[in-house]
Amino acid sequence: MAVESKFDPKDMIFRHLGPTGLKVSIFSLGGWLTYGGTHKGNIVKDCLQAAWDHGINFFDTAEVYANGQSEIEMGNALKELAWPRDEYVLSTKVFFGTGRKEPNTRGLSRKHVVEGLKSSLARLQQPYVDIVLAHRPDVGTPMKEIVEGFTQCIRNLNLAYYWGTSEWSAVQIMEATQIAERYNLIAPIAEQAQYNAFHRQRFEVEYAPLYEQFQYGTTIWSPLASGLLTGKYNDGIPEDSRFATNKSTFEGTIKELQSPEGKAKIEKVKKLTAIAEKLGGNATQLALAWCAKNPNVSTVILGATKVAQIEDNCKALTLIPKLTPEVMEEIESVLGNKPQAPSTYGRNR
Ligand SMILES: NC(=O)c1ccc[n+]([C@@H]2O[C@H](COP(=O)([O-])OP(=O)(O)OC[C@H]3O[C@@H](n4cnc5c(N)ncnc54)[C@H](OP(=O)(O)O)[C@@H]3O)[C@@H](O)[C@H]2O)c1
Repeated sequence: MAVESKFDPKDMIFRHLGPTGLKVSIFSLGGWLTYGGTHKGNIVKDCLQAAWDHGINFFDTAEVYANGQSEIEMGNALKELAWPRDEYVLSTKVFFGTGRKEPNTRGLSRKHVVEGLKSSLARLQQPYVDIVLAHRPDVGTPMKEIVEGFTQCIRNLNLAYYWGTSEWSAVQIMEATQIAERYNLIAPIAEQAQYNAFHRQRFEVEYAPLYEQFQYGTTIWSPLASGLLTGKYNDGIPEDSRFATNKSTFEGTIKELQSPEGKAKIEKVKKLTAIAEKLGGNATQLALAWCAKNPNVSTVILGATKVAQIEDNCKALTLIPKLTPEVMEEIESVLGNKPQAPSTYGRNR
């Protein structure tokens, strides 16, 4: 039977995810704290639909998000939306488990990688995910076993097509890649890293050799620093905002906002807002476009509690071409936090 296409990419940009042939929209949508957490039911479906309507084809979740509830809510929404499965890309992550405390229901042992992913798929009501990520490194499991576990999910069990890492060091990613090459196993293809205008060092400096040597991909998280870069926290904490609805998670951040460092960040957001307005956008769109402008970013994972936020955020697409070298320089002088690459002692390739 012929499948009727339901996806209209509109003006979305697509990038290859790392060294693979898989194409992901430059903006994607994730469910941390939101879907299954503060938001359940129709709003989840409405947000996924709004993303899809803007050309977003990639959705991200994890076993640990709301202790499994995020996968359940996103799985229900995907089932109801009934998009052709070959038109969207889905990722989940294993490592933290779902809040259970037994010795083998978390980590990256072969047992938990396989069983954790099987449980995720059951919650998602999906036969496979496109990408499964190791949500953190596991120093308690030999690296060869970790790579074997993910290879088994892909090669033997057809539970995923690709695997990736999240918040691993460059050294750990190199080790996994070299083990995969040496033992004819499958290497990871992308890192899910925190990256935004206030959090740059690891993404821009530590990972640089990975982009060059392996074309390693990236699916970046908290591009708005959980909302700080929207300007919504400039004058305090609005009642229905993330810092209010997830107080304990953001205790440290809320405290930091009162410190000289926190106040300096707010001042920077105000200056970035002025630059954004000159370009015909707002602070949120500038922050997202700035991430997307980096060619080492494969996709910027958005978080959204409202359909209107997705609509607002996708307008960032129009700002990307406006980020000329002069504008980037202006942003750099406001941020004042460009990470320094190690010296090459005058040698280059
Ligand atoms: N691998 C990892 O360790 C890891 C860690 C964290 C996240 N992630 C992934 O990355 C995704 C995105 O991260 P994130 O949610 O932290 O991203 P973020 O973009 O930094 O923050 C998203 C939050 O900002 C607020 N917001 C978004 N757009 C807005 C707008 N236009 N105006 C005003 N407020 C707006 C919303 O919260 P409120 O409306 O509640 O204020 C929204 O939930 C997650 O869903 C998850 O898939 C991965």
